[in-house]
Amino acid sequence: MCGIVGYIGKNTAWPVLIKGLERLEYRGYDSAGIALLEGGTFSVYKKKGRVAELSKFAKSHNELSGGVGIAHTRWATHGVPSDANAHPHLSNGGDIVIVHNGIIENYLSIKKVLIGKGYKFKSDTDTEVLANLIEDIKKNGSAGRQIPIDEAVRLALAEVTGAYAILVLSKDEPGTMVVAKVGSPAVIGIGNGEFFIASDATPIVEHTKKVVYLEDGEMAVIKDGKLSLKTIKNKVRKNLYVHTLKTKIEELEKGGFPHFMLKEIFDQPESLRNTMRGRIVMDKGNVKFGGVEKFNKEFKNLEHLTIIGMGTARFSGLIGEYAFEELAGIPVKVEYGSEFTYRSVANGRHAGLIAISQSGETADTLNAIKKAKEEKLLTLGIVNVIGSSIARVVDAGIYNHVGPETAVASTKATTSQALLFVMLAIYLGRMRDLSKSDGQKILKEIQKLPEYVESILKHANLIKKLAKKYKKYKNFFFLGRKYNAGAAMEGALKLKECSYIHAEGCNAAELKHGPISLIDKDFPSLVIAPTDSMYEKNKSHIQEIKARGGKVIVLTTEGNKELKNVADDVIYIPKTLEMLTPILAFVPMQLLAYYIAVEKGNDVDKPRNLAKSVTVE
Ligand code: M6R
Repeated sequence: MCGIVGYIGKNTAWPVLIKGLERLEYRGYDSAGIALLEGGTFSVYKKKGRVAELSKFAKSHNELSGGVGIAHTRWATHGVPSDANAHPHLSNGGDIVIVHNGIIENYLSIKKVLIGKGYKFKSDTDTEVLANLIEDIKKNGSAGRQIPIDEAVRLALAEVTGAYAILVLSKDEPGTMVVAKVGSPAVIGIGNGEFFIASDATPIVEHTKKVVYLEDGEMAVIKDGKLSLKTIKNKVRKNLYVHTLKTKIEELEKGGFPHFMLKEIFDQPESLRNTMRGRIVMDKGNVKFGGVEKFNKEFKNLEHLTIIGMGTARFSGLIGEYAFEELAGIPVKVEYGSEFTYRSVANGRHAGLIAISQSGETADTLNAIKKAKEEKLLTLGIVNVIGSSIARVVDAGIYNHVGPETAVASTKATTSQALLFVMLAIYLGRMRDLSKSDGQKILKEIQKLPEYVESILKHANLIKKLAKKYKKYKNFFFLGRKYNAGAAMEGALKLKECSYIHAEGCNAAELKHGPISLIDKDFPSLVIAPTDSMYEKNKSHIQEIKARGGKVIVLTTEGNKELKNVADDVIYIPKTLEMLTPILAFVPMQLLAYYIAVEKGNDVDKPRNLAKSVTVE
């Protein structure tokens, strides 16, 4: 994880870097730091805590000039969050400064060698080891003579294993910045005589729309106003492939909401519209996905699918599992990306893998795709961040098109993921036995989803009241069946990550096989029980909980009065098709998690210990 930002150009680096760090804070926020090259020396400002604290601290210490700088916001991997472990890290001689997102796996053996040469370390990080390795190589490079910084970085990287995106400066070469990456993302924005480098495009978009994505194993050298690319193996990349960013600045702001999470919850009618926009072909009862058409033959022959993802993304996959089986008759397995990578997979012929990820950078998912490709599986990505690592590595892709999701807790990407799974199931189903009229019936309901979500959001105040009532509990169950089992797991995840209340998401049928022993008056349950094929079963589950003194919030279909006297509280969602109910059920559960977190005074957008994009295994 961690976010990195760099600036080299004719203007002052500080404002670009600090604003860039704020944009990247979702990637980690336990410490932050900036190094500026001013008057031939590095000024390094770093502080445990948020970017806002770094900003105050640095401003009170100096006038922050300098047209070259690098910056970092950290999610700790090696060493506790502290001022010393915060990046940037200087080399012993003060010649090299570096920021790093990733993990250098063999840092201990390199550190041992460097200690043998007299190097001293102020932090516990792998990054400081890399800074000193670069310095050592630079000093002693060729026949005892100094070598240029880009060559020193290249040689140092040939010695390290692991994942990284790094920015490196040398005080002897003030007009040069070196960027390199393996496994962690790095984007370079090309301005007018200036360059902006970051972990993703969000710090860049307000300065330039022209960007180059660095590929794994590549380095960028920005020297005297010119950008060149080569591989760590020293092969020059001639074509820069300049991409044009489409993100608008307003999409990165809170738009009057107190938190990004609430804004993103309220974005959902529009983000669902954007997910389906231009993709519904009603007269054919089908959908259209530009990014997958060229693999139609392979999709038609698919006999088995594995869906992988982590956290929320995997829970969306559990909805996809039911949809693919129901509409396309394709057997599906849903797996953690982290585990798929290390399994002996017997996939057979005609097997495919769907990787789902909002950020497109989750290392556990990315590694699983690499494994799937080795196994010759057809890989398809459902990704939100355009140009992200997963989007670029898969054979075919579908973008969510929900715009940037900034709050750590996923909301609008989640509803979009579930929707795309149903749409993709229609697509695969229409290649098989799904009739045109059945396809049309589902698509008509899909088109109503934005309005349905709007109507749920109109009653957000009711959920706010529930939040006040339930905030005191220390434990919670979220229960559902079939399509809503995955939704229940997502509801539990939302509550625990935002409000720090222990919550278990569980298939409601499983309750009586053990977990029910936890139920008492202090252990409430939220049961997702729309009036669908599982309704009668869910009614029994609710009775089982009530019989044991447990409180129940029921999430059911509008107009269903039956549960009013049974449940302690009822939340209504509009009537829709069973396979679409999770999309609606997500919304009140998101609101509940949000309002309880606010009630408890938690940092809603950046819950403790978390980061939005988990780029380490
Ligand atoms: O970017 P991704 O969708 O790959 O992220 C996967 C998970 O880390 C993510 O969904 C996480 O569980 C969210 N914080 C949930 O709100």
